[in-house]
This record gives sequence, structure tokens and C-alpha cells, in this order.
Amino acid sequence: RYYDAFITEQRYQYYLDGLLVTLEISLIAILAGVLIGILVATLKVSVANMKGFRWIGSICNCYINIIRGTPVILQLLIIYNLIFTSRDTNEIIVAAACFGINSGAYVAEIVRAGIESIDKGQMEAGRSLGLNANQTMFYIIMPQAIKNILPALGNEFIVLIKETSVASIIAVTDLTKAAQYIGSRTWDILPPLLISAVFYLVIVLGLTKLLGIFERRMSQGDNN
Ligand code: ARG
Repeated sequence: RYYDAFITEQRYQYYLDGLLVTLEISLIAILAGVLIGILVATLKVSVANMKGFRWIGSICNCYINIIRGTPVILQLLIIYNLIFTSRDTNEIIVAAACFGINSGAYVAEIVRAGIESIDKGQMEAGRSLGLNANQTMFYIIMPQAIKNILPALGNEFIVLIKETSVASIIAVTDLTKAAQYIGSRTWDILPPLLISAVFYLVIVLGLTKLLGIFERRMSQGDNN
């Protein structure tokens, strides 16, 4: 068998660097996605029956339909080649932005569905108690909606973290790419692939555990 000077420590460094890149892209994308999603959902819900502002809703729908209707791998390639064509483009930032924009569309629908799952009698009750529409939304609707939103949002985070593994298409050396590279240097592809799979698994299981704790906290005040 052929071995070059790709010694053990170097290998660990590649795993570590790849892992950091994956975490970095995921974290930025999750934050951006949540921000965009909440913004778009809020816009959609609030202009839904506002005369003269419906076009804002149409723009939001356009964004959601285009993002959800095209593969994320194409969105990556298009954003990378169309918008960021300069030589010193930071691919990690491009990938994070792309996944953030992608996730925003899914988060928007999750938040909107969560808000609309609350009976409209809750809004009427709040209003008849003397709260205005915004107060009712904030103090009455959202605390209930959040319980429907959280599980779906957790699922979205998990999908997003795994989805970042296609970032290597724009020359990002994330965890998946690092594994492929290590395999190509050691002429033994299977071990690094399995090791990187375990990394993803540990990240996702950790997140699942965290979300479980959070959801239990949220339902503590329920007596049904
Ligand atoms: N892999 C699919 C695609 O190419 C799904 C992406 C889902 N992304 C998400 N953030 N939920 O579009």
C-alpha cells in the first residue's frame, strides 16, 4: 500500500478544521434563517388583511416558492457564480448566507403555520379584554404558538445542519469534504466517511437532546 507523509496528526487537523467549518456555516445559517423566517412570517400574517399592502405578501410568497421549489445545491451554485464572482470571495460566508436564505423560507412557513394554528377566538378574547392587536399577538397568541413552532423548528435545524454537507460544491472544505480528502490521501475512503458520519450524528443527537429539554420546560405550565 502507498502511504505519503499524511501522518496521523495532520489527519486530525483536517477533521477538526472541517468540523469547525460545518459548525460555523450551520450556526450562521440557523441565525440568519430564524431572523429571515420570523420577519417574513410576521409580514405575511400582518398584511394578510391590510388593503393596499397585499403586494408585500406576494413578495413573501414569491421568495418562499422560489426557495422551496428549487434544489439547494443549485441555489448555492447560482449565488456563488452569479453574485459573488470576485477572486477573494469567502466561500464559507457565501455558503452560510445561502443556507440562511434557504432556511428562512422554511422557517417562515413554520412560524406562520404556528401562529395560524391558534384559534382566532384567542385574538377576540384578547381584544375584548382591552389589549390591542399587537399586545394580543405578543402576550396571548405567541406564547401558545411557540409550542407548535418549536418542534418543527428543531427539525428544520437538524435538516439544515446535514444539508450543509453539500457546501463542498462551491469549494468549501467542510466535514464531508475533509473526510473525502483524508480518504484520498490515505487511499482508504471508508474509515473517514464513517468517522465524519459519527460527527454529524453526535451533533444532531446533542441538538435533539437540547430541544427535548427546551420543549419539556415549555410545557411545564400546561395542565392538559
Ligand atoms: N435537500 C433539499 C433541497 O435540495 C431540501 C432542503 C431543505 N432545506 C431546509 N433548510 N429545510 O432543496
